[in-house]
Amino acid sequence: MFKTILVAVDGQRPLAAPLAELAQSEDLSRSEIFRRILSSALALAEVSSDLEVECLVCDGDPGDEILAQAEHLGADLIVIGSRGLGAYAELLLGSVSRKVLHLAKVPVMVVRG
Ligand SMILES: Nc1ncnc2c1ncn2[C@@H]1O[C@H](COP(=O)(O)OP(=O)(O)O)[C@@H](O)[C@H]1O
Ligand SMILES: [Mg+2]
Repeated sequence: MFKTILVAVDGQRPLAAPLAELAQSEDLSRSEIFRRILSSALALAEVSSDLEVECLVCDGDPGDEILAQAEHLGADLIVIGSRGLGAYAELLLGSVSRKVLHLAKVPVMVVRG
């Protein structure tokens, strides 16, 4: 059966204001905040219940960590967005997706949001 692993990498950048407020008001650690982000993504995706999905939060450089986890987990495919929330909207690919696309040892599917 297909198994999907949702990965969020905490690159130790300052949290966006609404997340910082949530962390403070509910006394949540950064990894709990990242776990919430993945849970929300999963809820929004309305994934069918016969698909096995796991959430994984880790620390480090996002591109390096996505590549390392894909290798460690033996992923057959990496699915990544073309852009994130970074600046330079005119570029087709963000720095994380570019790094993953160039260095991954397995196929990469880039999803344009
Ligand atoms: N910290 C992260 N954790 C997990 N995935 C990430 C992270 N940062 C970026 N990505 C993935 O890389 C894609 C492209 O983002 P990125 O390269 O950071 O573009 P931008 O430069 O626009 O922020 C995102 O849609 C997401 O799939
Ligand atoms: Mg980014």
